[in-house]
Amino acid sequence: MAEDDLERFHLSLERVLACKEFLDMFYDSFIGNSDRVKNFFKHTDMARQKRKLSTTLRLITMAADDSPGADIYLEYLGKYHHDIKVTEDLFDQWLVALIDSAKKCDPKYNDELEAIWRTAINLGIQHMHKAYEH
Ligand code: HEM
Repeated sequence: MAEDDLERFHLSLERVLACKEFLDMFYDSFIGNSDRVKNFFKHTDMARQKRKLSTTLRLITMAADDSPGADIYLEYLGKYHHDIKVTEDLFDQWLVALIDSAKKCDPKYNDELEAIWRTAINLGIQHMHKAYEH
């Protein structure tokens, strides 16, 4: 990713994570819109899950910034999702819910920033999906 875009993504992500409603909004939307997704999270400690997701979003920034090992973690996380039978199509719903919640939380959000979010997050998803290829 271009340095300038990466910096804009990083600053936007920090604004979004500082927004108290973001993780609730994201999971309410992701889980609320699909019974299939709801079923996956029926035994999940959601406070813990939200904490882990916020860390992983920062790790996606690190992977886009070529930090050693960040890609390996994401591929491993992909393997974990594959093992628990999360199918690739559910990642589209995940991304829709994420972008929608980010939009509501970042006052500086615009179409250009949305394209940058999509690029950064899709890079992370690509690392996770490597585990789906074998
Ligand atoms: C880029 C997309 C995604 C990211 C970054 C992500 C991130 C994570 C992280 C960090 C964990 C915690 C792993 C641990 O226990 O340490 C997790 C668990 C989980 N994720 Fe995802 N996830 C993504 C997509 C999805 C999708 C599409 C689904 C579909 C239902 C999903 C369902 C789950 C479930 C069921 C768990 C286990 C929850 C539990 O422990 O009960 N994730 N995910």
